[in-house]
Amino acid sequence: MSRIAAELTELVLEALTAAGCAPESGSTEAVLPSKSAQHGDYQSNACFRMAKQVGTNPRALAEKLLAVMPSHEGVEKVEVAGPGFLNFHVSDAWVGQALSEQMNDERLGLARREGCVVVDYSSPNVAKRMHVAHLRSTVIGNALDRCLRFSGYQVVADNHIGDWGTQFGKLIVAWRNWVDEAAFEKDPIAELQRIYVLFAEEAEIRPGLDEEAREETAKLQAGDEENRALWKSFIEVSMTEFNRLYKRLGVHFDVTLGESFYNDKLQPMVDALLESGVAEHSEGAVIVSFDASDGKGLDDTPMLIRKKDGAALYATTDLATVRHRLDTWKPAHILYVTDTRQQLHFRQLFASCKRLGWSDANLVHVWFGLLSLPGGTMSTRKGNVINL
Ligand code: ARG
Repeated sequence: MSRIAAELTELVLEALTAAGCAPESGSTEAVLPSKSAQHGDYQSNACFRMAKQVGTNPRALAEKLLAVMPSHEGVEKVEVAGPGFLNFHVSDAWVGQALSEQMNDERLGLARREGCVVVDYSSPNVAKRMHVAHLRSTVIGNALDRCLRFSGYQVVADNHIGDWGTQFGKLIVAWRNWVDEAAFEKDPIAELQRIYVLFAEEAEIRPGLDEEAREETAKLQAGDEENRALWKSFIEVSMTEFNRLYKRLGVHFDVTLGESFYNDKLQPMVDALLESGVAEHSEGAVIVSFDASDGKGLDDTPMLIRKKDGAALYATTDLATVRHRLDTWKPAHILYVTDTRQQLHFRQLFASCKRLGWSDANLVHVWFGLLSLPGGTMSTRKGNVINL
C-alpha cells in the first residue's frame, strides 16, 4: 500500500472509532485509488461491511463517518457517494511529496520480497529462426524477471528451449538427403529451415520418409554417435543466433535447460505416476485423466504422457521439469510465459502436479494473445513469418 493510501486508511479507522464503531479486528478495508477521477482520488468501501456489523445502512454510516473524520492537511475534500462509498480528494502537494519520498528511496518504497521465483520464458524451438512472435515471451518474461529481481526475489530465469523431439529425426533425414553444406556454412538456420520444409513436402508424397524420421529419432535418443553429433551442431548454431538476439535485447538467462536435459528422467517419471495411481493405462498409452474438481473443462481432456509407441511427450517433459525445479531451487512461484494456445496444456500440468501433491510452489501461466498477419497465424513451415 502506498503511504497516502495507508494514511487515508488510518483516517477511516479513526473516524470509525470516533463514531463508536471501532472494528473488532482493529483494522479496516484498505483505502484504494479510485477507478475513475469522478470518484475522487481514493475511495473507501469500509462502510459496507461495518454497516452490517453495527446494524445500519452503509450510506448512513458513511454520513456519520464524514461528520467525525479528522482533518488532514493533504485531504482537500471527502464526499459520501453512491450506496456508501467515501471518496477522498487529495492535494497535489501531498502527492508530490509522497512521490519524491518514494523516488529518493532506493527501493522506490517497495517492501522487500523473499524467496525464489523461476521464470520460464523465451523458450524457442531450436533449428528455427526466431521471428517477431517470439519477442513477446522474451520481452514480457524479461520484464517480469527484472521486476521480480527488483522486488528482492531470487530469480532463476530459465530458457526452456525446445531441443528434443521428433523434429530432429526429420532434420537428420533431411540433412542426409538434401543439405547444401556451403549454404549451411553461410546461414545455418536458413539452411535447416529450408531442408525441414523440404522434408514436410516430400513426406506427403513419400510415406516411408516419416518412418525413416522416426527411426532416426529413436537412434538419436538411444545415443547413436552420428545422430548425436548432428543434433548437437543444430543446437549450437541455433544458440549462437539466439544469443546474438538476447545480447541485443539485454536479456540474460541464469540457466538454459532445454527439453533434452530431462530426457532420462521421463520414463522413470511415467512409471512413478503409474505407481502412485495419478496416471493410468488407456488404449496402450498412458494418460492422466481429470474430473470436474480439477477445473472447468478438464474432465473430458486427459493429458497424454506416454504414447502407444512408448514415446514421451511435451507434457511428460514439463512434469519432470517441475520436479527438477522444486528439488533444485525450492521456488515459491514458477511462472511460464507463453501464448494463449498453451492454456490447456498448463491447466492440465498444474492439475497433475496438484494430484501428485507437489504443492510447494505456486504455478502460474502468464499467457498473451496471438500475433497474426493478414495471411493468418505465423508459421515457419508455411513461410509467413517476419524474422527478427
Ligand atoms: N518451446 C515451447 C514453444 O515454443 C515453449 C516452452 C514453454 N515452456 C515450458 N516449460 N513448456 O511453444
